[in-house]
Amino acid sequence: MSGGLRLDAERIVLRRGGATVLDDVGVAVPAGSIAALTGPSGSGKTTLLTVLAALERPDGGSVRYDGRPVTPAARGPWVGRVQIAHQAFGLLSLLSSAENVELALQTLPPDRRPARSAVRTAAAEALAAVGLTARADHLVEELSGGEQQRVALARAMVTTPELLFADEPTAQLDAANRAVVVALLRSIADGGTTVVVATHDPDLTAACDLVIALADGRVRPRPSPATIG
Ligand SMILES: Nc1ncnc2c1ncn2[C@@H]1O[C@H](COP(=O)(O)OP(=O)(O)OP(=O)(O)O)[C@@H](O)[C@H]1O
Ligand SMILES: [Mg+2]
Repeated sequence: MSGGLRLDAERIVLRRGGATVLDDVGVAVPAGSIAALTGPSGSGKTTLLTVLAALERPDGGSVRYDGRPVTPAARGPWVGRVQIAHQAFGLLSLLSSAENVELALQTLPPDRRPARSAVRTAAAEALAAVGLTARADHLVEELSGGEQQRVALARAMVTTPELLFADEPTAQLDAANRAVVVALLRSIADGGTTVVVATHDPDLTAACDLVIALADGRVRPRPSPATIG
């Protein structure tokens, strides 16, 4: 497996409709570690993920992968190497689970696109990793919310990205499937991929190497050792 990307963001500012949604946010995630973005609903987690994934250009500040600045207009070289599993899934509902996952590989640049048989095998393996082998041929619109969430994660991880974002990847899951997904994300990071999750899930947060806590669009200062206890 290739190594993960180091992720840095500095002084990120993002305004929407006159409101400042992200205010001077900085993030530093070492390669191969998992970071949790935590904070109350509306604190800016999803917005920050879209900026860090270079899907949205901030009004201020910069994002760098391995020290190289990245913007939405210049994310071409990172396609497939940086993936996001969205909070609202973003799956194609009239395709099967397997077809949705295969699409992530079929749309890679030609020099990185596997052969057709390898595409099928990789998609089957990714669905197996999230416990969905039995649902591989079901249309996405026939799946439960939690099953769709796991298809979205399989689709994001099937290209073996160097940087993986996942927005609330365990939010709709029961305890057993939460444990599967937490262990899977941990093993992806242990394999070298850098992972950033937005989450309210204490079990997922506990499995992360660092926690970035947001409140009202700002990073909350870490408590000093004297105040922990
Ligand atoms: N398109 C938009 N226009 C205006 N405001 C927006 C827009 N999208 C999000 N916001 C606002 O930005 C703030 C941050 O939203 P965001 O979705 O990043 O929160 P979140 O921390 O991911 O919340 P949750 O835990 O509920 O997913 C919220 O106050 C939200 O209402
Ligand atoms: Mg969110």
